[in-house]
Amino acid sequence: MDKNSRRAVIAGNWKMNKTRPEAKALLAELIPLVKEAGCQVVACVPFTDLETALEAARGSNIAIGAQNCHWEKSGAFTGEISAEMLREMGVEYVIIGHSERRQYFGETDATVQKRVRAALDAGLTVILCVGELLEQREAGITREIVGMQTRVALGGVSREELSRIVLAYEPVWAIGTGRTATAQQAGEVNHYIRTVVEELYGAEAAAALTIQYGGSMNAKNAAELLDQPDVDGGLIGGASLKPQDFAAIVAAASR
Ligand code: 13P
Repeated sequence: MDKNSRRAVIAGNWKMNKTRPEAKALLAELIPLVKEAGCQVVACVPFTDLETALEAARGSNIAIGAQNCHWEKSGAFTGEISAEMLREMGVEYVIIGHSERRQYFGETDATVQKRVRAALDAGLTVILCVGELLEQREAGITREIVGMQTRVALGGVSREELSRIVLAYEPVWAIGTGRTATAQQAGEVNHYIRTVVEELYGAEAAAALTIQYGGSMNAKNAAELLDQPDVDGGLIGGASLKPQDFAAIVAAASR
């Protein structure tokens, strides 16, 4: 299976941005711009915007996602939201293991694995983030880091469930810095991730897996990044808050 037969996914990660009226306005502007998209379009919004976003996106080709979920179904976990709660609302996607959660909120490979398990059990599709820090790249251990993050996160995920996983390679040094990985760097690591998945699940499953790139992807550099044989989409931060820019990335991924 080559790139053209894989599902391209362009997902916006709004991070901690947009009140409900702002979310409604952004989606209202975005919907007509991406209605002819030849790829899956996802908006991952703050928890407080989910209901508004689901309502605004109803009948459109935009799927709605959250940015995290807890691993238990319910219980004494103040401030957390379960995968079941998301699914019950009609949420389809959830980002897990974003580097900002790993950096600022104590997320580890072990908790990422538990969250992935819960999200799959609830019927969600997971956008699973992996990526190295700058010092890890400079130390020449990008593959070790990304390989380990991928292996641990997928521990316990069956081959059938892999169809509800989207991998997102996000080099931490490229996030929100304006310093994008070169297309070659993105292509190389995405290809490496596919070889790790191949070891775990076999060639067919690996070939079918959607692997995004994320980190300062924008309307200008998207086409070159998406042209790489192993880059099947993007996880977009800053540019996802600008409808025209996000739509241009969607157009670049459409086929
Ligand atoms: P930026 O596109 O703002 O660099 O963010 C990337 C990201 O972290 C998406 O999850």
